[in-house]
Amino acid sequence: MARSIIIDCDPGTDDAIALFLALGNPALEIRLVTVAGGNVGLGHTMRNARALVGLAGKSIPVIAGADRPLLGSFEDAAYVHGENGLGGIQLPDGPPATPGLAADAIRAALRQAGPNGLTLVGLGPATNLALALATEPALAANVAEIVLMTGAWAEGNITPAAEFNAWSDPEALAIVMACARPITLATLDLTSQALCTPARLAALAQGQGTCRATAAAILATVPPTKRLAQPGSPQHDSCAIAWLLAPETFTHREVHVTVDCTNGPGRGQTIIDRWDRLGRPANARLLDTLNPDRFFALLDESFNRLP
Ligand code: RIB
Ligand code: CA
Repeated sequence: MARSIIIDCDPGTDDAIALFLALGNPALEIRLVTVAGGNVGLGHTMRNARALVGLAGKSIPVIAGADRPLLGSFEDAAYVHGENGLGGIQLPDGPPATPGLAADAIRAALRQAGPNGLTLVGLGPATNLALALATEPALAANVAEIVLMTGAWAEGNITPAAEFNAWSDPEALAIVMACARPITLATLDLTSQALCTPARLAALAQGQGTCRATAAAILATVPPTKRLAQPGSPQHDSCAIAWLLAPETFTHREVHVTVDCTNGPGRGQTIIDRWDRLGRPANARLLDTLNPDRFFALLDESFNRLP
């Protein structure tokens, strides 16, 4: 029985790989792809999401959402993802966007899903998810699980304290964290284990298919991450998808997480109490480790199923 999910994203080079991972695995039934501004502006992230879904040959609604955070101003990460969000790689235009707004579409899908009927996967700023859950809180009962690539318990990647998705809209993340549904976090500390090294990229590029070749070309544009000792690009967003596909290859623990929504140097920090020092009730599952070989095998298997 395929698991029904909604993917909210901001493609984004690593979002692109995560979309291919999900689109190429029949264990996931992607009901909607909703899009926010994040890595780059909403115009680019929407075009990219439509193009990636089109390249995969799938007819899945792609719906635009927030082009900015709930509070504060929009800041992109084009210095990592390129001006167009895919490292400059140009894709053929995909199917047209489905009219409407992401938050409304997420709520409509939740209404239709029934109790525990739908998993929400957040791969960008949590704005769309927060708008959907905050404006109709009763629908949270239909959320089976929320899986977020967000946060870090060690250092951040946009400020010393904060990871980009959490930093982009900390108030939205705090709203999602408060919805009292099972939440699983793929933080930077996990995603650094899914490092697409030059050797992994060369292996991934072996094989057929336009999606595989496109992914390899996109991955080749990603600049090295000075935060990590080894060369390569951490596949942040794919870790959230891989959790749904192969949970047995992860270790994890239950933790209490607080989101810093102040306007100081810690804004956007996810304060993750890994050792339960404060004795507060856990509100999230923190993914600790993954099996990199299994992770990249899942990617390869998805590309084998995609055009
Ligand atoms: O910090 C990594 C996250 O921010 C990833 O989702 C990446 O796509 C960017 O959105
Ligand atoms: Ca992302």
